[in-house]
Amino acid sequence: MVRALIATTVRRRVGGGHYAPSMNAEKAEKIAVVGAGTMGAGIAQMAAEAGHRVTLIDTSQESVERGMAAITGFLERKVAKGTLTSEQCGGILSALDFTTDTDAGVDGAAMVVEAVFENLELKQQVFADLDRSCPPQVILASNTSTLPITQIASATNHPERVIGTHYFSPVPLMRLVEVVRGEQTSDEVAERSVALCEGFGKQPILIADVPGFIVNRFLCLLYNEAANLIHRGVASAEDIDTALKLGCNWPMGPTEIMDMAGVDVTLMAMEAMHEMTGEERYKPSPLLTEMVAEKRWGRKTGRGFSNYPST
Ligand SMILES: NC(=O)c1ccc[n+]([C@@H]2O[C@H](COP(=O)([O-])OP(=O)(O)OC[C@H]3O[C@@H](n4cnc5c(N)ncnc54)[C@H](O)[C@@H]3O)[C@@H](O)[C@H]2O)c1
Repeated sequence: MVRALIATTVRRRVGGGHYAPSMNAEKAEKIAVVGAGTMGAGIAQMAAEAGHRVTLIDTSQESVERGMAAITGFLERKVAKGTLTSEQCGGILSALDFTTDTDAGVDGAAMVVEAVFENLELKQQVFADLDRSCPPQVILASNTSTLPITQIASATNHPERVIGTHYFSPVPLMRLVEVVRGEQTSDEVAERSVALCEGFGKQPILIADVPGFIVNRFLCLLYNEAANLIHRGVASAEDIDTALKLGCNWPMGPTEIMDMAGVDVTLMAMEAMHEMTGEERYKPSPLLTEMVAEKRWGRKTGRGFSNYPST
């Protein structure tokens, strides 16, 4: 059923690799998402589930199709679990449109959310292009997890319409979005962004453009403390996880989370925080550096704080 619906959507292809959406979200504003990776696909799914027409944009047909396949798989699992009907699933998929043509993709959007690789130069280039393509009332939002919004906005002629909307993975399930005001973001753009995020079913918090925003400032300290305690032989990874799970009701322990997210990704985030803040407390634990050098990156390499023999 779901596959048939996708086939129908694909058959409605129009020029330039662009796929026409069918309907059912005419009243809600259109959202465009640039970057169809893990986060972009999740953001597109979230907005379509909230009743918006959404266009997902990437640089290659393969990438947009991978993004659409991720969304389809997620929705199919919801149908299998009985939390979504086939009809609802079909409605969401038909509100989603995908393209490799950015100008066509952003046409008519009220908000464009950027979710390309975490690289300042790339993001500045994407924002400069979006600034040229979109009329000034269109909100340009970045999903960056570490880069200053003010620096991204500096590549545009309208920095007042640039804002951060930092979602968490997996986007359709995580409730928080950090809405980050750059130095020149206007009050109107901040208010409209918060309202849109609420409409997406998320709980926004409006915050200043500080390194790590809120969540990553805390998480980096906690992860580093866990790694330092293990490095100094004070506690085992298992004991630290038990402590946080049973003493603080964390659903997972910090070393389990680092193994899942990637110890390499954790080290990169820590290095970025250390560089941006200049604060000693964010200096990466020597254990994280050692683990990354030894390819103990967590689940993805089969070894991290724990071993994952089947990976
Ligand atoms: N993965 C996470 O848990 C997470 C959480 C919060 C925020 N973020 C942030 O979200 C952003 C995206 O992360 P991700 O994990 O989805 O990355 P990803 O590597 O899964 O996807 C990035 C996508 O961007 C595409 N892309 C690159 N250049 C492009 C361009 N010029 N135009 C259009 N598409 C382009 C790539 O082809 C790729 O499909 C990053 O800024 C990251 O820091 C990630």
